[in-house]
Amino acid sequence: MNANDLPGKAAEIYKKIRRKHKVAFETLKLNDKEIKILQVTDLESLLAGKDPFKDVSEFPFWVRLWEASLILSHVVAALPPGNGTKFLELGAGLGAPGLTAAACGYDVTLSDYEKHILDFQRVSAAANGFDNVDFKKGYLEDIPLPEHFADLVTSNCVINLSPDKKQVFVEIWRILRDHGRVVVSDTISEKPVPKGMRANPRLWGECVSGALTEAEYLSKMEQAGFYGLSILKRTLWREVEGYKFFSIVVRGYKFEKKSSCTYVGQYATYLGPMQAVVDEEGHLFPRDQAVAVCTDTAAKLQKPPYQSSFVVSTGTDMNEQSITTEEDTCPVEGECC
Ligand SMILES: C[S@@+](CC[C@H](N)C(=O)[O-])C[C@H]1O[C@@H](n2cnc3c(N)ncnc32)[C@H](O)[C@@H]1O
Repeated sequence: MNANDLPGKAAEIYKKIRRKHKVAFETLKLNDKEIKILQVTDLESLLAGKDPFKDVSEFPFWVRLWEASLILSHVVAALPPGNGTKFLELGAGLGAPGLTAAACGYDVTLSDYEKHILDFQRVSAAANGFDNVDFKKGYLEDIPLPEHFADLVTSNCVINLSPDKKQVFVEIWRILRDHGRVVVSDTISEKPVPKGMRANPRLWGECVSGALTEAEYLSKMEQAGFYGLSILKRTLWREVEGYKFFSIVVRGYKFEKKSSCTYVGQYATYLGPMQAVVDEEGHLFPRDQAVAVCTDTAAKLQKPPYQSSFVVSTGTDMNEQSITTEEDTCPVEGECC
C-alpha cells in the first residue's frame, strides 16, 4: 500500500514505521469480510542483534499474529452486527479480533502496553477505512478505562502472561457494563505446570508455562465475579515435556448483584432438557417447577446465557410459553458467543 492512500496522520505513522522496519499488509479472510493487517516482515530489525532465546524479555511479542487470534477472529466474525456496541481487545498486539469487530460495526478499543504496536494498529485501522477504532496504551492489571466502559471484552494469548491473573479478571469485570460479556482465548494446561517449567522464561514468553489448568482458570474468573461460564472451543495447541497445552475460547458474563436482593413474589421455571440444574449460588431448579427467587436471581435468569432456559413469572400458575434457543437466534450454527 502507498502511504498516500492513507489519511493524513496514518500516512505519517506508516512512513515512520517503514523507516524502521520492513512491513507488509496481510489480508485475512473472515466469512464475507477481508481485513488488512500491517505486519513486520523482518524480525532482525526489531531484535537488533539480541538473542530472545537468552532473554525472553527481548522478544517483541506484539509483532506476531498469533494463530489463536485467528480462531478468535472467526468467533468475532460470526457475532451479530455490532451497531455501535463497545468492544475492547486487551493485549491486542496486531489486533486481528478487534479489527474484525470494527468490520462488523462494533465501536472498538484496541489496547496494549507496548506503544509501538498501537502505531501498527492505527495504520491497519486506517488502511481498512475504519473510523470506529480507538487505541489505548495500558496494562491488563490496571486497565486505563472507566468502569462500565465495554459491552464485550476479548483478548488472545495474553492473560496467561500475567503473574496476577485474578487481578486481570477483576479489572475486566470492573470495566464491563452490567450483563456485559468477556470472550477470551488463552492457553490452559491439562495438568498443573511444574515449578521447573514455570521458571523457564522462554516457555513463559511463548504463552506456555504461565498457563493455569482449565479448572484454575475458570475459578479465577468466578472469584472475580463472572458467571455463566462456557468453553466455546478447545483445541490441542502444543505438547511440551509431556504436558499438553490447549487453546480455549471461554465466555463469561458480568452480573452486578444489588445490595437489597428481595423477594417480591417472582418465580423461575427451568425449561429443561436436564431433569434439574443448579446455579452459581447453589439454587436448585428442577425442570418445570416454579421456584421462588429474589430480585437478583430473577434479573440474572432473564438475561443471556440463561434467558432461553428459564421463564420468570410473578406467580406459580401455568403460562403459555415457547422456547427460544440460542440456535434460533445465532447467525452461524455453533459459533455464537
Ligand atoms: C502473545 S502476544 C498476543 C498478541 C495478540 N493478542 C495476538 O493474539 O495476536 C501478547 C500481547 O500482549 C501484550 N501484553 C503482554 N503483557 C501485557 C500486560 N500485562 N498488559 C498489557 N499488554 C500486555 C504484548 O505487548 C503483546 O502484544
